[in-house]
Amino acid sequence: MKILLASSEVHPFSKTGGLADMVSALGKALAHAGHEARIVTPLYRGIREKYPQLRREDWIFDLPLGSTRVRAELWSLELQPGLVIWFVDQPEFYQRAGLYLENNQDYADNAARFVYFSKCAAHLARYSPWRPDVIHVHDWQVALVPALILPQKIAEGWGNPPPTCLTIHKLAYQGWFPATAFSLTTLPRDFFTLNGAEFYGQMNCLKAGIVYADAITTVSPRYAREITTEAMGCSLDDRLRMRQHQLFGILNGVDYDEWNTSANSFLPHAYSVTRMAGKTANKLALQKEMGLPERKEVPLFGTISRLAEQKGVDIELGALAEMLSADIQFVLLGSGSPVFEQGYRELAARFPDKVAVRVGYSEALSHRIEAACDFFLMPSHFEPCGLNQMYSLRYGTIPVVRATGGLDDSVIDYSQSPARATGIKFFEYSARALAKAMRKALAIYEHPALLRQYRRNAMQADFSWEQTVNEYVRVYSLINPNSAGPKTVQTPE
Ligand code: ADP
Ligand code: GLC
Repeated sequence: MKILLASSEVHPFSKTGGLADMVSALGKALAHAGHEARIVTPLYRGIREKYPQLRREDWIFDLPLGSTRVRAELWSLELQPGLVIWFVDQPEFYQRAGLYLENNQDYADNAARFVYFSKCAAHLARYSPWRPDVIHVHDWQVALVPALILPQKIAEGWGNPPPTCLTIHKLAYQGWFPATAFSLTTLPRDFFTLNGAEFYGQMNCLKAGIVYADAITTVSPRYAREITTEAMGCSLDDRLRMRQHQLFGILNGVDYDEWNTSANSFLPHAYSVTRMAGKTANKLALQKEMGLPERKEVPLFGTISRLAEQKGVDIELGALAEMLSADIQFVLLGSGSPVFEQGYRELAARFPDKVAVRVGYSEALSHRIEAACDFFLMPSHFEPCGLNQMYSLRYGTIPVVRATGGLDDSVIDYSQSPARATGIKFFEYSARALAKAMRKALAIYEHPALLRQYRRNAMQADFSWEQTVNEYVRVYSLINPNSAGPKTVQTPE
């Protein structure tokens, strides 16, 4: 099958969160499974310099955007056999310091930037000699693609366009713009109605995707249920209920080629489920790196996160303030809301021997923290899937999570199965409930045999993409029953 994925971020080229990891891992897994995948994404600042093997394609986009036309080039790179990345090069739109914002302010022309990108994706699907069987778009930035295709099918003679699948990674971010932005799409006016892209007088890109995509997926089974409720539907629950029969929850996988403890250049010490000494060595190394007392016996908690309300930062700050009277350490790597950044900085100033904070973004440090910590805190308010708890599991770092969305689907609590427990869950969204869960963590820590059992279970939990990818292929086959199966993989004689 030939699948065109469209995403505004793709690891390792651009990333603000798990979307980048997921799209790249899905592309790789599809290719491994014998399908052909291409991922189209914007060419942001620095990518060409970092990847000199990028090639310019003999292809120019010249597409209407509102009352003007905008040109762009197409560049490409084969990431692995069967997986090509297509980059849309429009320097005025994408060669900037941030992907979506700068100095905590969204770019004022984000509507134009992502309507244009969506148009490029639809254009490639139609005119490139590589004809996809399915177009799979991710989040609001490309959620207009299904709508952009429809009038081309009806009025412009695109006989048999590929069906579309929309994956919702963040329902809370919908791409809302003033009604005037709709003209950028050059879609017929009847797409801007109650049953289209219009939402309380504004343009809502994600809503358009929910209305027009042939199938909708989200990144865990529990979150798929949650978003059809008023409490968690971010005002789109009624639309999602209308599409309930085409809505599927598929838990993300983990790219274990990247996230592993035995062959990982980011880690000073390798370790595995049968050779855990390296984990302690990583802990001592991280304590040194972060300026904390080097004490292997002290329980070390960690968080790596976008510092946004979604992630439960407020209750984490509250719980830490309570728990830091105990003999524990805590490290944070994160960035986001200035108020939250300041909150953690203040905590580090109050507890210099116990708390170390790095405000910023570092892939290498994120691996070292995952490897070094005993416990990983993820008290999210809501969590479509969450990847860090799954990375923690593989690293033998016991996740302490709020039982919501993908966190609930991927972590097993003692109360669910004493023998198979991999982490600690709490339910109520409060600092008190998180502090209580942290006390459970400390109780486990005091029983080495129990801690070993948790770690063993956690490290052996398997969220590899081999399983997950079949679920996506099943959705693709549902919306395009005529598409061919995987191309035959040649086995060497
Ligand atoms: P979300 O996508 O909602 O932010 P996920 O848990 O799905 O949450 O994915 C977050 C991804 O971003 C993980 O790969 C995590 O390691 C990474 N990440 C988040 N913040 C940072 C940071 N400050 N530095 C490095 N990596 C980060
Ligand atoms: C979003 C969600 C996160 C999920 C990621 C990848 O960023 O917030 O829960 O893991 O997308 O699907």
